[in-house]
Amino acid sequence: MSIAALFATPVYRVRLPSRGLTAFNAQLARECRQLRRDDPAGRRWSKSNYPGGYTSYGSAHKMHTVSPTFALLQRRVARHVAAFAEALCFDLPEGGLEMTDCWVNIMRRRTSHGLHLHPASTLSGTYYVETPPGAPGLKLEDPRLDRMMAAPRLRQDAPARLRRWITLPVRAGELVLFESWLRHEVPPNPAPADRISISFNFSWF
Ligand code: NI
Repeated sequence: MSIAALFATPVYRVRLPSRGLTAFNAQLARECRQLRRDDPAGRRWSKSNYPGGYTSYGSAHKMHTVSPTFALLQRRVARHVAAFAEALCFDLPEGGLEMTDCWVNIMRRRTSHGLHLHPASTLSGTYYVETPPGAPGLKLEDPRLDRMMAAPRLRQDAPARLRRWITLPVRAGELVLFESWLRHEVPPNPAPADRISISFNFSWF
């Protein structure tokens, strides 16, 4: 007898090397806050789409092309994206995956980010810049959930690989990558301080 675990949902996590990381994150955080000040269109967009918080998703979403600090983040992320694509056995054209979008998220206290996925993209991910104590993690949903018409609840002791939702704890300096079709959300931030992250999409076309 055997039970196979088929149709995996791989999630890539890594902590960037600690050398110079504090200064790198401080510079990114400064630029994120500066962008929030300088981006009235983004603040307007966030008012209707990201209540309580600020995201440059609707305004400045190619930060890797305008800031050398974000361009450096792009280079640091790209090698992990390549490693993940390799592990996923993607048969890609020469040049591999390209960063198409890169944007800032600042979640103040009580800000949340509802369930969503990233259409028209191959791999997506987030780099964490500031995660105050108590800041929420990244909640991932089993992509087959909408087909589970008569699936029973699971016991409390169900292992992670069988659960319908997994919340990954996140820490400044960490990078999380996943396939763009994987639905995810960020629960409300209970911390009285900003949770700052930078998200991106990579595409092969
Ligand atoms: Ni997302």
